[in-house]
Amino acid sequence: MGSLLLDGVGKRYGTAVAVERVDLDVRQGEMVALLGPSGCGKTTTLRMVAGFVAPTTGRVLIGGADVTQAPPHARDTGMVFQSYALFPHMTVAANVAFGLEMRKVGRAEREQRVREVLRLVRLEGLEERLPRQLSGGQQQRVALARALVVNPAVFLLDEPLSNLDAKLRGEVRMEIRALQQRLGLTTLIVTHDQEEALTMADRLVVMDRGRVRQVGTAEELYERPADPFVAGFVGRCNLVEGALEAPGAFRATTGALLPCAPGSAALGRRILALRPEHIALAPAPSPASNGAARLKAVTYLGALTEYHLELDGTPLLAIRPTPPADDPLRRLSPGDAVRLSWEASAARLLSAEPTDQQGA
Ligand SMILES: Nc1ncnc2c1ncn2[C@@H]1O[C@H](COP(=O)(O)OP(=O)(O)OP(=O)(O)O)[C@@H](O)[C@H]1O
Ligand SMILES: [Mg+2]
Repeated sequence: MGSLLLDGVGKRYGTAVAVERVDLDVRQGEMVALLGPSGCGKTTTLRMVAGFVAPTTGRVLIGGADVTQAPPHARDTGMVFQSYALFPHMTVAANVAFGLEMRKVGRAEREQRVREVLRLVRLEGLEERLPRQLSGGQQQRVALARALVVNPAVFLLDEPLSNLDAKLRGEVRMEIRALQQRLGLTTLIVTHDQEEALTMADRLVVMDRGRVRQVGTAEELYERPADPFVAGFVGRCNLVEGALEAPGAFRATTGALLPCAPGSAALGRRILALRPEHIALAPAPSPASNGAARLKAVTYLGALTEYHLELDGTPLLAIRPTPPADDPLRRLSPGDAVRLSWEASAARLLSAEPTDQQGA
């Protein structure tokens, strides 16, 4: 069946590490997203699964079989490339049939499967068009059809939505997820868009500079980030440098004192992570009142409002549901003093960045 296992898979180009030993187990029917900034090794990882890049370390197993040495067409994978990579001189039908020809599937079966998969991605009637006669979203679906037509055990998608506008991206995102769930496809999708990863995938792999930082569900990564990089990359987060001075008392390097989870963390240097939606605010009685923060800017976003604040030299972002028109918060303006509060347990202490630059 279609489980996928990456066992210490890594890639070096000369002395440069593109991907550092990735261990990952994708279950049959599961959709996992590789998420991370540009250049962190997402495409390289996907290409090692598809067989277009030979790993320098580790093994790739599909359905329990070691395919590390197998060429791409002998692996049971279907891949959608970052740029679609449709053949410009070939019709939609010929583009989709290509993988079947490579696999020596007979003509009658080929035609039937192309028809079926074009229906699946809602492209019936466009069989004879060339790619340049299609919209971006339609080309994107041809790329999907071409990968799906071979009934892959593992479906690989490299930023398949990056060329679409925001609205179409939202729609196609839902279509891909529905299709993946309906067909029970084991899927690895690459994206650098956290919203895409959060909405589509069962689990996420956050990568940074060739390394896996954390693997988990959206909730796990959002609520229990392993390190400041993950906290800052998945959702928005206030990350404050400083030290735990006493249980429950965090002293920012700027001098601000911030309450935090009392927990059992050892005293010493830490990074405090506080999600903006956990900061409540109220107008402070006087501008000079003790412990008050200063409002720097307010951004009205409709349902939500962002408050850019400064507490004793430490910038903080708070995001709240926009209060009703008669709420005193609506009369706040830049320069005003505000009192901040949050549940101590919402302020998590993370270790400072691990020593990163090893190897390189
Ligand atoms: N053929 C190659 N030769 C040398 N270095 C390479 C090669 N391919 C990729 N790299 C390097 O490996 C690193 C990872 O590249 P990769 O394409 O996997 O990144 P990515 O996460 O997909 O980025 P993006 O989001 O920009 O697509 C980069 O530093 C890149 O320059
Ligand atoms: Mg890439």
